[in-house]
Amino acid sequence: MSSHLHHFRVWRGDDTKGELVDYPVEVNEGEVVLDVIHRLQATEAGDLAVRWNCKAGKCGSCSAEINGRPRLMCMTRMNTFDDEEIVTVTPLRSFPVIRDLVTDVSFNYTKAREIPSFTPPEGVAPGEYRMAQVDVERSQEFRKCIECYLCQNTCHVVRDHEENKEAFAGPRYLMRMAELDMHPLDAHGNRAVEAQEEHGLGFCNITKCCTEVCPEHIKITDNALIPLKERAVDRKYDPLVWLGDKIFRR
Ligand code: SF4
Ligand code: F3S
Ligand code: FES
Repeated sequence: MSSHLHHFRVWRGDDTKGELVDYPVEVNEGEVVLDVIHRLQATEAGDLAVRWNCKAGKCGSCSAEINGRPRLMCMTRMNTFDDEEIVTVTPLRSFPVIRDLVTDVSFNYTKAREIPSFTPPEGVAPGEYRMAQVDVERSQEFRKCIECYLCQNTCHVVRDHEENKEAFAGPRYLMRMAELDMHPLDAHGNRAVEAQEEHGLGFCNITKCCTEVCPEHIKITDNALIPLKERAVDRKYDPLVWLGDKIFRR
């Protein structure tokens, strides 16, 4: 097995201060960035903080920025870098740093809690729900989400605008609203208009950066956000829906 010494540059610090620290570190054939971070912990940087769990791209814990690109450390192969290329690993930029590569992602849990859960239809018992296969498949794409928050971290609406965080749920949770809005059995009501009026769907100008970084290759923009925008507009400006709202909300 071949190995070489690779130049790593890792952000070290906490919520008060930090800096990039250079480490020469051994890399073996077949390794991923997370392997190298673990080797650093075992050798030169025993107190390096890093969050991870599955090392298989499924838990969503090891998100970081590698050479400025938001990625999963366990799914980034070392053979995608030249041997001379410095590999810089920094924490997710949109969330507050706790220590080193570990950030406080509680923003996302707050947003998750703001979305009303699936509301079952009245008079249908669990076990009696029936859906067309096409609707099942549509949901399944969205449910591949591993909650790595790379999309939430990348979207420019919050990445450089901390002040937008309160009003904007972010692509992961707007996608959740789209999933429920398209769900034939969800009885909650008008989630598309709620997404527009209460969860900041209008901030999204479909730049698709969220889709580009999603490790599950979910078409967040094309299959969730754009359809959700269209559904919000249809509902809000459809004259029949408008009339119905006027009559039934009186
Ligand atoms: Fe991660 Fe993709 Fe889920 Fe966003 S939608 S949290 S990028 S898996
Ligand atoms: Fe942001 Fe994705 Fe929209 S990156 S602007 S949520 S398409
Ligand atoms: Fe689980 Fe990387 S360690 S996704």
